[in-house]
Amino acid sequence: MEVVILESPEEIARVGADAIAQHVAADPEAVLGLATGSSPLLIYRELAARVGRGELSLARCRAFLLDEYVGLPADHPQSYRTVIRRELVDHVDLDPARVSGPDGTADDLPAECAAYEAAIAGAGGVHVQLLGIGTTGHVAFNEPGSSLASRTRIKTLTAQTRRDNARFFDGDLDAVPTHCLTQGIGTILDARHLVLVALGRAKAEAVHQMVEGPVSALWPASALQLHPHVTVLLDPAAASRL
Ligand code: GLP
Repeated sequence: MEVVILESPEEIARVGADAIAQHVAADPEAVLGLATGSSPLLIYRELAARVGRGELSLARCRAFLLDEYVGLPADHPQSYRTVIRRELVDHVDLDPARVSGPDGTADDLPAECAAYEAAIAGAGGVHVQLLGIGTTGHVAFNEPGSSLASRTRIKTLTAQTRRDNARFFDGDLDAVPTHCLTQGIGTILDARHLVLVALGRAKAEAVHQMVEGPVSALWPASALQLHPHVTVLLDPAAASRL
């Protein structure tokens, strides 16, 4: 695990975008793993700037989302498929038809999860996976107690995560879904390169447990210690407990 502490958001954006650009340079059809949440946004802005300047093209890439809320249709403003379109896809040359996320409104959710796993495998697996981390130590929506071998499945969101995410629902906790579909820890660990971004003091304990704690389902991000190629990008506040 390579832990990189960077002073400015601009540096985090540059190093994160460099990681993705390297994979795309090596294979223009690279499969990208995209994360929602606020942490990757600065990297998405940097990718959009590079595409705008003609330095990078994602036109031949495929992309898969980590997770989705159960019950939010694809066109809901807070569904992760809409969020990633608004935050990234609309600003780069990635083909929206080549960006996939699990459908949290499917009639048969277990079948949707199995089909999503098959789609990722069918694309040849993820080359570079962007990740944030929750204050509970979750990656994607793998909350504490998640099996470290888990695959895409339905999960119940913790009260803490629902409180954390209420800000995206105008502060209305009741509007935050109670369940989600999420890639499992095992799914995430299958990606060739993991790039995790954490910003701010609220993440310091989770970052400490991820990097320095024992590998434990109580802090799901600690499973990243088992992966051979992880880059952790931190601001000084997120790194303050290391
Ligand atoms: C959300 C997402 C995660 C994200 C995390 C942190 O609930 N499901 O993929 O990494 O929580 O979000 P943020 O980056 O906004 O702090």
